[in-house]
Amino acid sequence: MKFPHLFEPLAIGSAVFRNRIFSSPQGYYNVAKDNLPSLDEVAYYERKARGGFASVTVGDCIVEDSTGTHYPFLIRMEDRSTLPGLAAIASSVSRHGAVASAELAHAGMYARFVKYPDGSVYGADSMKNAAAATVLGGDLYGPVYIENGKYGEVLEMPEEMILRIIDKFGKAAAWAKTCGFGMVTVHGGHGWLLSQFMSPTVNTRTDRWGGSFENRMRLPLAVIESIRKNVGRDFPIEYRFSGSEASPVGYDIDYGVKFAQAIDGKVDIIHVSAGDHEDDHSIIITHPSMFMEDGVNVKYAAEIKKYVKTPVATVGALTDPAMMEEIIASGRADIVNLGRQSLADPDLPTKARTGREDDINKCLRCNTCLEHTGSIRTLRCATNPEIGFERDAKISRPLKERKRVLVAGGGIAGMQAALTASERGHEVILCEKTDRLGGVLRCEENVPFKLRLHEYLDRQAKQIAKAPIDLRLNTEVTPELAQSLKPDVIFAALGAVPKIPPIKGIDGVNVVEATALYAAPEKAGANVTIIGGGLVGIELAIYLRTLGKIVTIIEALPTLVSDDAGMHLLAHDEAVRQPGITVHRATTVSEITPSGVTCKNDGGEFAVPADTVVIAIGQSPLRAEAIALYDSAPEFYQIGDCVTPRRIITATSQAYTIARDI
Ligand SMILES: Cc1cc2nc3c(=O)[nH]c(=O)nc-3n(C[C@H](O)[C@H](O)[C@H](O)COP(=O)(O)O)c2cc1C
Repeated sequence: MKFPHLFEPLAIGSAVFRNRIFSSPQGYYNVAKDNLPSLDEVAYYERKARGGFASVTVGDCIVEDSTGTHYPFLIRMEDRSTLPGLAAIASSVSRHGAVASAELAHAGMYARFVKYPDGSVYGADSMKNAAAATVLGGDLYGPVYIENGKYGEVLEMPEEMILRIIDKFGKAAAWAKTCGFGMVTVHGGHGWLLSQFMSPTVNTRTDRWGGSFENRMRLPLAVIESIRKNVGRDFPIEYRFSGSEASPVGYDIDYGVKFAQAIDGKVDIIHVSAGDHEDDHSIIITHPSMFMEDGVNVKYAAEIKKYVKTPVATVGALTDPAMMEEIIASGRADIVNLGRQSLADPDLPTKARTGREDDINKCLRCNTCLEHTGSIRTLRCATNPEIGFERDAKISRPLKERKRVLVAGGGIAGMQAALTASERGHEVILCEKTDRLGGVLRCEENVPFKLRLHEYLDRQAKQIAKAPIDLRLNTEVTPELAQSLKPDVIFAALGAVPKIPPIKGIDGVNVVEATALYAAPEKAGANVTIIGGGLVGIELAIYLRTLGKIVTIIEALPTLVSDDAGMHLLAHDEAVRQPGITVHRATTVSEITPSGVTCKNDGGEFAVPADTVVIAIGQSPLRAEAIALYDSAPEFYQIGDCVTPRRIITATSQAYTIARDI
């Protein structure tokens, strides 16, 4: 056993955890408007259990929806009609050998009511309606009165409401147990109700629920007691909270330790997260960005572990089983929780246990998952196209006819199409015109914060090497070659080429295209101007800054892509605001000169000196080249950047979906 500590079972009360790898709470936002768990949701949580996790937690189960929900489509623990759905999740998880946990939550002053002018509460049938309803709002309650809270006026929660909510936590836990869950997780962190009451800065009440530490602890302790009364001594209670809010306005780890000591022995697992959901800086710490190191929040759990006897769980940016083993072996935590990694590869526990670490698809921390929960209420993963389609993926489809599949292009889309088609049992020929698989993103392989992307490309290439795929490098697919191979199916995954704008001076020796500079950063002078503030331009600026360059970004639109928020973009935004990076928005470049660029915006014309000028205005799809292959096989599919250059998820999901259907 390579990871003996990681795979040492843990018995707590009535639960036996088969290893120390838990799937962190990850709410499922695709709950229908009646707020009942769907079959898709069952399949989503079941998939994690099937991959070997010791525990799988259903995120954000709301204990009192009239005051506590922060989103219209969440499971309502008060609603008895949730029984079949919750029971299906609990039994699907436990039948696969994992302990099912329900995370009990109340958003307090960050609750957003879903009330319509006609008085109906849950009528929202689309995000648009939900947003309208949110604006109409209802009364918000938190520890203290706040005239201008983030979502409007916050009323001080009256004592009878506090007592009622304590009771609701207990009843919700009892309901979870009735539905077949083996544990409950109290959501006491990330800025939600319980953390609002424990917060010295937020909770300045002067009655017995605030002011002193003892009073601030009253609500969390009463919630634990209420749950315990309802579920009994043997039923495990996990308490999740932020070890540090990691923000100048939040509490620090010393306070986190004090809190943990106060709940020590009263709960069965102390789950130490970090940050605050409602704070743009600290939410990036709750979900560590790709610009942060692996395991960046373990230090909080490790500190708390020194002071408590209760088993301690850690979470945040964990992808590598060797690191997880070290965390447990060194005693910094007893349990590791994986959030985004459980989406990138739900099979991580099984792969780590069976010596297949090389097969693990490691999370890029690109936050495509979080972005999709906001935009389409459904979880997706950039590099795991099964996520969001777990129910469909579970259905094996017999191959009616084994086809000869030619994939032209070995970038992200081409590799995924080849792998999925081969897994289906088709005969696959994959041609790549260069000497290496991976496509355009290989140019970023030396960028430290793109390490995981590089590993992803390597992993896909290795999977292809292991599969019965006829790989032909240095082979460009012309119509003649395609026809000579007589394929039944062609995937054209030819990619794109950089766009070069017709700016005066573009041919100067000081001008370089972004992907070329990524591949050879030594070509950059000390002072670099990047034309284009999209994802590529911004990330290149961040990279060049790590190499000590002074960087200016010039963007023609009034906003950078990062101004659009979204979790990854928030991280961008923060990185771009560091000294050494200057951004000019709504600015065009009229000329490139040997000493820099001449720009224009509302303020007039001005010069930006630069030793190197980088072009990062996007890519042009190789559509004509793709279409040229159209007649070379009965079935033809154009996928990835040669359709329209987009994000990784577009390429992987398109390739997977089509290849699964042929
Ligand atoms: C898509 C998504 C949904 C999440 N939903 C919840 C949730 O419902 N409740 C919660 O406490 N944390 C939630 N989290 C936070 C995770 O549990 C975890 O703490 C965080 O992602 C950091 O871990 P990671 O780096 O392994 O992803 C969510 C995270 C993601 C990415």
